[in-house]
Amino acid sequence: MKALVLAGGKGSRLRPLTYTSAKQLVPVANKPVLYYGLEAIRDAGIHSVGIVVGDTAHEIREAVGDGSRFGLDVTYIPQEAPLGLAHCVLIAREFLGDEPFVMYLGDNFLVDGIAGLVEAFRGSGNDAQILLTRVAEPQFYGVAELGPDGEIIGLEEKPEHPRSDLAIVGVYTFSPAVHEAVRAITPSARGELEITDAIKWLMDNGGRVRSHFVSGYWKDIGRLQDMLECNRIVLEAIEPNVRGTVDGFSEISGRVLIEPGALVENSVIRGPAVVGADSKISSSYIGPYTSIGARCVLENADVQYSIVLEDSAIRGVPGLTYSLIGRNVEVSRARGVPNTHQLMVGDHSRIQVRA
Ligand code: DAU
Repeated sequence: MKALVLAGGKGSRLRPLTYTSAKQLVPVANKPVLYYGLEAIRDAGIHSVGIVVGDTAHEIREAVGDGSRFGLDVTYIPQEAPLGLAHCVLIAREFLGDEPFVMYLGDNFLVDGIAGLVEAFRGSGNDAQILLTRVAEPQFYGVAELGPDGEIIGLEEKPEHPRSDLAIVGVYTFSPAVHEAVRAITPSARGELEITDAIKWLMDNGGRVRSHFVSGYWKDIGRLQDMLECNRIVLEAIEPNVRGTVDGFSEISGRVLIEPGALVENSVIRGPAVVGADSKISSSYIGPYTSIGARCVLENADVQYSIVLEDSAIRGVPGLTYSLIGRNVEVSRARGVPNTHQLMVGDHSRIQVRA
């Protein structure tokens, strides 16, 4: 069995971060979300992985390399434009050959991995298996409708009026029968070859399609609130360990991982939280569910329930919460006129100041 990982696409809902970096490399507890997927594939006993890459190919290649670090053998499959999930299967035809495969969307995160799903598929005789979970806003996902015996009776991609709250999770298993399906379908109204349409085609043409419910936590990290929540879930299980230096005036409590080279002085850190390698935290408060990336500087800062990416600095700013701060960002106090805000912010950024 092979794996096809999708790491192209646009990531428009995570702009401005995704202007400069791939959405699949946005870190959750200081580790790119794509790495969790690759590890889950390895843990399911799969070795040969094709990764579909687009505009951010260079960055993905740099982060993943030949895959040996993950115990995988990786082949890159360039996609000229994000023409849809089924288009990815189309262009991966040669890599996939006639083997069954699991297709994994690189921005999806499953706490329990995919070994159970892959195991259920092997030898099942199914042509496609999809994973489902109940969500509050099904209109943002592919949606399945099930009959009285749990059989799939309908599939729709991002319907305006969803017929159920069952979202399709971004991990699918296919037999080689899917290749005929992706060749047969035509682009949707949004101009993409939809995998949902290919699965529907399989169902309409005598294929065996089955669904399973996701057992543990699942998230597609498409939006800020999803990322923060995913970060929270991972941090809740983080192994506490102080591998950097903490001075005698600081207080660390709860699950806190301090990575090598980090320095914490005169500060309070209440876990779950992680402080990245070579970061310097002075006279600051880091509250629960916070990930501070590598080489950051926090001075007289107060941050909680947030993600701060590498090489950023926060100085003299209290009360940062529910925030996602990109790479090489500086957040500091405005000088001069009191009670003013001085901003230099990239396109498509969102700033919410005190009410
Ligand atoms: O996350 C689950 C959802 O994923 C499903 O419920 C939907 O049925 C499915 O269509 C998909 O919807 P999204 O709108 O979230 O897909 P997105 O465009 O974000 O792409 C998912 C991943 O695939 C992402 O890592 C980018 C990559 N991709 C996407 C497209 C369209 C590619 O590599 N190439 C592409 O052409």
